[in-house]
Amino acid sequence: MENTVGIGLLGAGTVGGTLIRRLVEEHEAIGAKTGLDLQVRRVAVRDPDKPRDFTLPPGVLTEDAMKVVTDPSVGLVVEVMGGQDPAFDLVLAALDAGKPVVTANKELIAARGPDLIAAAERQGVPLLFEAAVGGGIPIIRPLSETLAGEQIARVMGIVNGTTNFILTRMSEDGQEYETALEEAQVLGYAEPDPTADVSGADAAAKAAILASLAFGTWVGLDQVYREGIEKVSALDIQFAAELGYVIKLLAVAERTGRGVCARVHPVMLPAEHPLASIRGATNAIYIEGPSIDELLFAGPGAGGEPTASAVLGDVIDAARELLAGAVVAPRIRFAAGALADFGDVTTKWSVRLLVDDEPGVLAQIAAAFGESDVSIKSVWQEGQGSEATLLIVTHGAAEGRQRVAADTLRHLEPVREVESVIRVESPEA
Ligand SMILES: NC(=O)c1ccc[n+]([C@@H]2O[C@H](COP(=O)([O-])OP(=O)(O)OC[C@H]3O[C@@H](n4cnc5c(N)ncnc54)[C@H](OP(=O)(O)O)[C@@H]3O)[C@@H](O)[C@H]2O)c1
Repeated sequence: MENTVGIGLLGAGTVGGTLIRRLVEEHEAIGAKTGLDLQVRRVAVRDPDKPRDFTLPPGVLTEDAMKVVTDPSVGLVVEVMGGQDPAFDLVLAALDAGKPVVTANKELIAARGPDLIAAAERQGVPLLFEAAVGGGIPIIRPLSETLAGEQIARVMGIVNGTTNFILTRMSEDGQEYETALEEAQVLGYAEPDPTADVSGADAAAKAAILASLAFGTWVGLDQVYREGIEKVSALDIQFAAELGYVIKLLAVAERTGRGVCARVHPVMLPAEHPLASIRGATNAIYIEGPSIDELLFAGPGAGGEPTASAVLGDVIDAARELLAGAVVAPRIRFAAGALADFGDVTTKWSVRLLVDDEPGVLAQIAAAFGESDVSIKSVWQEGQGSEATLLIVTHGAAEGRQRVAADTLRHLEPVREVESVIRVESPEA
């Protein structure tokens, strides 16, 4: 049929398997809605003998992934195998052969996006990656197309469901980090090795993509400042709550006076902020701009069904482009632009200190901040004597100066320990 597009999949796991099942079972419904006849022609897996919850004609599954790319009956390639290798070579080969590519692979795009985007541009074919950030939430297309004319100021996202689940449990049930992590593992929200999630690495790849698309300047994975949630304690969450804040792991991409900055770290957010109410494994992305004011996209950030839904949307889009036969202009152009050094970016800090509550201690602490040109917004004390805890929230100052102030505090006689440092995002200075 003239509206037939042969699909080749690299991977048939959680996302790929769901996509195949939908392409097969909903073939008629998808055809009725889009006018497309999408046919699964070749599928690469590691183990063709593994039981699958989809049925394909014999011979479609292969262990040789390059065969999917080179098969002449495959007109469009979907990469859902994950990782950089061999995914990069396979995607590049598909693009070089003039085949549109859809991928859900944030790591691949964040680490090697420019090379792949350049290959797609050379060949005039689409390279779409809606599912790479926010799973089932439409965010890549809104950022790169719908909001293409907006001078975006800032994007803040809860882009990792595992860490948001853990922080929600800690906040709502007073659990310690380890207990909440164990529960996340039992419920399948966290991997047996949770490092990529809890260290912020997964969110950093998404922050790099969000920053690149929002500001049109490519931000590499190694240019994203990153801290995970491993050090956040139930006490931090309790103190934050007393002051009207919740703690979230945020991916922040912003345009500063010194250039674009992308960062991932725990943040104290005012309880009334739209992102503060995002609970459990839900993801959300909040965008600020002069014309749109604020936008919030929220929904399931992972899982086979939501992610395959985003991939399927891209497949339909790419299949239409392929059938139209036109040379596809890139959805977004990247220009060289300044990237800010995080040390120069203005941040507000909340510093929790264990101190000896003796006369003059507050004056010494205020002086330590003052020497670094950091002014204090509020001080909150709990306990007395050698068990006194102070929570100090600063006004905005360069991140580097905040760090110097914290180092000075560590050396003050009455300061027994700087127990935690968490950045604060609040509208006031
Ligand atoms: N899962 C989610 O909720 C989610 C959400 C957003 C984005 N993503 C992204 O989507 C991608 C896929 O994730 P997933 O959860 O579906 O992964 P997955 O369940 O581990 O599936 C990976 C698939 O790729 C196949 N594969 C891996 N290496 C291969 C190789 N060298 N040659 C041939 N086949 C190979 C595997 O074969 P076998 O089946 O034989 O093992 C499996 O079918 C990743 O980039 C991930 O970051 C996932």
